[in-house]
Amino acid sequence: MLEDIPRFHLANLPTPLHRLSHLEDSLGLNEIWIKRDDLTGLAFGGNKTRKLEYVLGKAMEENADTLVTVGALQSNHCRQTAAAAAVAGLRCILLLAGEEPDVYEGNLLLDMLLGAELKFFPDDDFHSLSGRLDTIIDTLQDLGLKPHRIPAGAAYPLGSLGYVKAMEEVKLQFDEVGSSPDRIIMASGTAGTIAGMLVGAQLMDIDSEIIAITVMDDVEQHRAKVNNLLVEMQREYDFIPKSTPDFTIDDRFLGEGYSLMSDGVKSSIEMFAKMDAILLDPVYTGRAAMALIRMALAGEIESDEKVLFWHTGGTPSVFTKSSCFMQ
Ligand SMILES: Cc1ncc(COP(=O)(O)O)c(C=O)c1O
Repeated sequence: MLEDIPRFHLANLPTPLHRLSHLEDSLGLNEIWIKRDDLTGLAFGGNKTRKLEYVLGKAMEENADTLVTVGALQSNHCRQTAAAAAVAGLRCILLLAGEEPDVYEGNLLLDMLLGAELKFFPDDDFHSLSGRLDTIIDTLQDLGLKPHRIPAGAAYPLGSLGYVKAMEEVKLQFDEVGSSPDRIIMASGTAGTIAGMLVGAQLMDIDSEIIAITVMDDVEQHRAKVNNLLVEMQREYDFIPKSTPDFTIDDRFLGEGYSLMSDGVKSSIEMFAKMDAILLDPVYTGRAAMALIRMALAGEIESDEKVLFWHTGGTPSVFTKSSCFMQ
């Protein structure tokens, strides 16, 4: 059972669940809820904190002395891993795809402040760098370290357990307020978060439609990613249902590229901030917000449907986009 799996305390849980009343008025929806995983509490929070509780549980059990992971220069996952390592008293090595910038901003600045050792790989993107993670781990072992390998986004069965558990939390919160969401809208990248949510929804009998707004894949690529992870989870843990859950993937909001902020994302970030003081990020939650706004305005969401927007964090990277917002 989930309770038997070691977990290292990192997050302030439960994260708040509340309504976005101004956005409800302006989009003409009766109930828009937000789950505030931007407030998980670890160095600006975010969805990786829940995953890292299980990752660190294992790393500590194995007496690892170093966490090693990989990501893009503005990776929220890397920043939260650096913070988790600081809390646990471990060394942290971050392998970052891209050229070292002259000025560190956003997550990269925080990685440095949190004491992580940063290695830049100018000729890699984070997929190619992920492919080399094992070799780098072998080298660190040869040097006498006890590294714990965390894949990009902590997208593996152990990490996804954080979101299996999160569904238990959100179900209790909705039960308390006497509501339940018809749809859950969330940003999906490496698919670790949605895989956990889908399993958690199965275990908790939550029948909301879970909608993954992809930030880098088309529908087919993303479905393959989610399904592979679900199969891996089923193989790894007996308590995971063997049936494939239903879910929706929406790739209409990809824009022109992973880290490029479109005008639609920009205005969605501004709308959430000005209306309900919710700060989003340009890569993930800004896209999911744009999806919610466009779907509501296009009538794809009926006014009496209850929507949950899952805020997965990422706020520090908004500080890298000041020139776009000041235009
Ligand atoms: C802010 C934010 N939201 C959503 C995601 C997507 O989560 P996942 O990679 O588990 O699909 C990420 C991943 O890095 C993220 O940083």
